[in-house]
Amino acid sequence: MSRLVLASNRGPVTLRDGGGRTVGAAGGMAPILIDALRELDASWVCSASTPAERRGRGVQVNGMRVRFVSLPPEVLERAYNGISNRVLWFLHHALWDRSLQPVFDEATTTAWSAYVRTNRSFARAMVREAGSGGIHMVQDYHLSLVPALLRELSPDSRIAHFTHTPFADLSGLHVLPDSMREELLRGLLGADQLGFHTRRWADNFRRAALELDGVTAKGRSHLSVGGRTVRLGVYPVTPPQDLRQQANAPSILAKRARLQERLAGRALLLRVDRMELSKNILRGFLAYEEFLRRNRKWRGKVVHLALLSPSRADIAEYGVYSRACKAEARRINAELGAPDWRPIEVRVKDDHAEVLAAYGVYDALLVNPVVDGMNLVAMEGPTLNGRNGALILSREAGAFDLLGKHSVGVNPFDIGEQAGAIREALEMPEGERSRRSRALSRAAASNPPSEWLGSQVRDLLA
Ligand code: F6P
Repeated sequence: MSRLVLASNRGPVTLRDGGGRTVGAAGGMAPILIDALRELDASWVCSASTPAERRGRGVQVNGMRVRFVSLPPEVLERAYNGISNRVLWFLHHALWDRSLQPVFDEATTTAWSAYVRTNRSFARAMVREAGSGGIHMVQDYHLSLVPALLRELSPDSRIAHFTHTPFADLSGLHVLPDSMREELLRGLLGADQLGFHTRRWADNFRRAALELDGVTAKGRSHLSVGGRTVRLGVYPVTPPQDLRQQANAPSILAKRARLQERLAGRALLLRVDRMELSKNILRGFLAYEEFLRRNRKWRGKVVHLALLSPSRADIAEYGVYSRACKAEARRINAELGAPDWRPIEVRVKDDHAEVLAAYGVYDALLVNPVVDGMNLVAMEGPTLNGRNGALILSREAGAFDLLGKHSVGVNPFDIGEQAGAIREALEMPEGERSRRSRALSRAAASNPPSEWLGSQVRDLLA
């Protein structure tokens, strides 16, 4: 088989000055890819994010070669924050308040040039790594232009791109300047195969691509462009299989016991997220408040624990949102709490061990994103939970396609419905809880990372 080269902005390892390294990365995608590549002879191309990474060309991690793409920090910053985070993330998650945002100006043009340059450097690094005729697996919105650039540099390669986020609908895409929208879509169309977590995101891409000159449909799953066929595939992923093993480590079990002690018999409503605008943390707090106001008998009998990892501190909106969430939790605690009971506990910290411990003992897990490409929390929870905990799940999460019928589905904008769902989840009869929780954990194991990647490679080479 030709050489397999995968590329993503964030890599599987962080190198520190003085020789230290940490394997693994925050966020949903990196752990999936690390697990998927475990047994494969592959290379992983990623951004150099520390001085040590910028100095070295690469390292070996779990038997695979990791190659760093080194660009001047200000170029990376413009591409990452200026375009990937501020434009593409907001676009695909429909986060703009369009009365004020976005404003595309000179700064956007400069950032876009940095994005193009970054994508070009990735394409070159991938071709260097693969030689001719490689198999290229490009990941996510940071690298949307890489497929077309790869095709120019190495026409005999096989090229796949996978989008881990939602893909914006037409009305969202039409917010972009026309030239930027066309470059993005044509960049992706350079691939032989485009992968998405759900049919809905694939259909959104298809509708947008069909607006371009020279693109025609060949059924629902294929497009024709410049005499080539581009396949649109749907590949939902479920979490790595070693999660249970990690969660059974003695240190995690000890943390779990301490958490149960602190709960002192109270029910646990858990949320696990990045501190991220699309995760709908604030409306989640309001829904819990509404639940407590409607159901006085639950006061003092439940704790809502929000384990939130810090994210994108460089972007002003994230700071504003984080402060608003914390203020709302403080207000609810002040209005509804009692000397011996704090209704909401918010922890903003990277603490994977605490997350694994809490997954084991929740009674209900609240996953209510405004929109989400997939959402692995909705699957990690049921995989590790030992109390037949119920899942409250946004119908706008990609994971709803897999888990929806076993969860309590919610409209993420409707506070009243979510308040009702919290009650339904906490008061669900035991037989029903256990039936649903078995079904959830089965569904959450249905397509682990190695199978997810394997089926994409098989389809790409078919
Ligand atoms: O959802 C797709 C994803 O790539 C996740 O892996 C991650 O949560 C996020 O987007 C990117 O996060 P970051 O900007 O921290 O790399």
